[in-house]
Amino acid sequence: MTEFLPGLEGVAATKSAISFIDGEKGILSYRGYPLETLAANSTFEETTLLLLEGELPTDTSLKSFVKDLRAHYRTKYHIREMMRHFPATGHPMDMLQTAVSSLGMFYPGTECLTDANSCEDIDYVRNMTVNIIAQMAPLVAMWEHMRQGYDPVEPRSDLSVAENLLYMFTGQEPDPLMARIMDVCLILHAEHTLNASTFAALVAGSTLASPYAVISAAIGTLSGPLHGGANQMVVGMLKEIGAPDKVEAWVDHKLANKEVIWGMGHREYKVKDPRAKILHKLVEKLVQERGGHLDQMFETALKLEEVCADRLGHKGVYPNVDFYSGILYSEMGIPEDQFTALFAVARSAGWLAHWREQIANNRIYRPTQIYIGSEQREYVPISKRGAKP
Ligand code: COA
Repeated sequence: MTEFLPGLEGVAATKSAISFIDGEKGILSYRGYPLETLAANSTFEETTLLLLEGELPTDTSLKSFVKDLRAHYRTKYHIREMMRHFPATGHPMDMLQTAVSSLGMFYPGTECLTDANSCEDIDYVRNMTVNIIAQMAPLVAMWEHMRQGYDPVEPRSDLSVAENLLYMFTGQEPDPLMARIMDVCLILHAEHTLNASTFAALVAGSTLASPYAVISAAIGTLSGPLHGGANQMVVGMLKEIGAPDKVEAWVDHKLANKEVIWGMGHREYKVKDPRAKILHKLVEKLVQERGGHLDQMFETALKLEEVCADRLGHKGVYPNVDFYSGILYSEMGIPEDQFTALFAVARSAGWLAHWREQIANNRIYRPTQIYIGSEQREYVPISKRGAKP
């Protein structure tokens, strides 16, 4: 008998060697390496290669990968021209999804994705992977200027993905502390087992669609507020609450109205998300160094975490990755509606790692359903259909 489990909770839809979550203990590891270790020691580029290839790279292979990425920061002229015609009010996630899917028209070669068991053209897979990961951050930063009617800042091939992202956003030499924080944020968001957007990538990938179509499907899926879109909502929520002494009444009102508290809860974690713990510490570090207006928002967030632990802790609802990331991005001067796009920049690494795993051992996704509609019935010509009472 076929059992329906809403949200496919607990249903294994693939086998994967890329990342691992223990939701009871609050553990997340990439290829066997605890996230905390990677956040403390690695870079986004090295972590990306680890996710893609399965092993920490040698010095030579990392240097070659970094060189390749930097050589592909620049986006095609036609894509830039196309972006100039997007409405300035367009959401960055819609821009990113459109730009990435359009890029696919410039990079043919999907005919190598023909075999159900493996892709024979390793170069195609590698080149497209590099091309997509390299262009995600520049596209997001370019849009920030273009939607305001300015020319985008040109990328710099002497900068890392995180540094170049900040540079292209601000047009200024990236602050080393902010660049390191951005780099850690990219590591933390790079991969997270079979979440909704990664599943969307797998489904699209299983049809042997182009990697641009795969990543475009994933970006669209990430954009929803129950997934990546929550980080944008958190800062708005903290601003709406305003101050720590307003938190209790605000939470009780929301819960009484059966509304969600943004940045809280996760399908996998029943304790505080390990990524939220690392981000929490990064905010503390920044508060020590910078202080200022960050204090008020951070103190409100701390109080909110405390009140939610009291009201929702028994349901296993604690801060997730989106709870503290927005505070950091705000401090970097990044507008709220760009937060989810930054999530997508990082997650492109995980999506492509899963795409590669999928096409290496592919079978098209085709689940089943439980039909709950009518029995077979007669077609009644429109002239003979009575008006509904
Ligand atoms: N605020 C208030 N209550 C919440 C909550 C939240 N953020 N998250 C979960 N709960 C409650 C649910 O209402 C439910 O209560 P009930 O058992 O009394 O009905 C219980 O906790 C279990 O939650 P459920 O909705 O079954 O969890 P899920 O696994 O289907 O959903 C999320 C997970 C992430 C979609 C959900 O926690 C959520 O909407 N969070 C806010 C959005 C967010 O931050 N998303 C980013 C995820 S990284």
